[in-house]
Amino acid sequence: MSSSRALGLYLTLLLALLCYASEARPVPQRPLIPNLAKLFGRPVIKPRSMGPVTEPEVDFPPAFPTASNLQDILRFSKAPVRYPKDMFPESGFGRQVRQADAVNQLQSWYSVCSAVGTQEEQICCAQQAWKKSLSAYCEGEFRIKTSHYFCCHKTGRARWNCFDKEASDSSYQVSSEVSNGSTPQKIQGFKYNSSACKGSSVASPKTSPLMKQTEVLSISFPPGRPDSSNIANICAHHKIRPRYMPKCLPRTGYGWLVRQSKAINVLEREYNQCCKDKKSQQRCAEKKVKKKKSQF
Ligand SMILES: *[C@@H]1O[C@H](CO)[C@@H](O)[C@H](O)[C@H]1NC(C)=O
Ligand SMILES: *[C@@H]1O[C@H](CO)[C@@H](O)[C@H](O)[C@H]1NC(C)=O
Repeated sequence: MSSSRALGLYLTLLLALLCYASEARPVPQRPLIPNLAKLFGRPVIKPRSMGPVTEPEVDFPPAFPTASNLQDILRFSKAPVRYPKDMFPESGFGRQVRQADAVNQLQSWYSVCSAVGTQEEQICCAQQAWKKSLSAYCEGEFRIKTSHYFCCHKTGRARWNCFDKEASDSSYQVSSEVSNGSTPQKIQGFKYNSSACKGSSVASPKTSPLMKQTEVLSISFPPGRPDSSNIANICAHHKIRPRYMPKCLPRTGYGWLVRQSKAINVLEREYNQCCKDKKSQQRCAEKKVKKKKSQF
């Protein structure tokens, strides 16, 4: 790893540390485990005629809308309905069906947001839709006798943080092969409140205290190559290197930083796996870095 690259990596870590220092209550990191089934849009489920039905997989909860996933959200809002009714067996799977309904509803509500003015307003609108849909989901949960989704037991900000933390990064990924089978559905019940967006941190990102810190930071990406001189350090210090925390990056305008920080998080996980086998760790880490570079 060249020294400038090493510096870049450590600046990222510095960013995370600054964030720790600036937050009274640090937000725990979100697990970043790529789920291949989810990456391709629709959950993988066997048609009923092909033997036993596998448990339908619903990507729930959906991720909190930010500048970094807004484009995915807009694409998602125009895509065919995420979880068509015929995806589920006629009985059972109540929990998955309720979650699928919430995602379908949100998908429809996001299309309201794709029609509003600026990007900041679209994000604010999407956040309103997200909160409203999850509130409705929780109300639904409490109406029935069931073990309620645990985030629903929290209120206010704690509830949103809880859902956001559970969400997967692939929430809004739409398969590129968009079929024309089931067009987006329209579900009533959401109206964008533009006055609630005025003066919010989203509407005026310049007032965000995090902005000042990140302005001076740069991140050297992709990270340098692991080699025989640094592999020992990469493995030894893996546990103490902090990760990117979604809450710690500015909501708008730094999509590249967020994407690169996420890539580093994934890489850290992969390093962790590589480090388990002393004999192959260097080659393994090299391969992972090469793969990451090819993605950017
Ligand atoms: C989907 O259907 C609409 C009208 O039914 C048509 O205008 C559009 O081109 C179709 N899109 C694709 C991708 O086939
Ligand atoms: C819109 O948001 C404002 C500010 O939060 C609030 O006072 C108002 O009641 C909201 N309007 C509606 C229709 O919900």
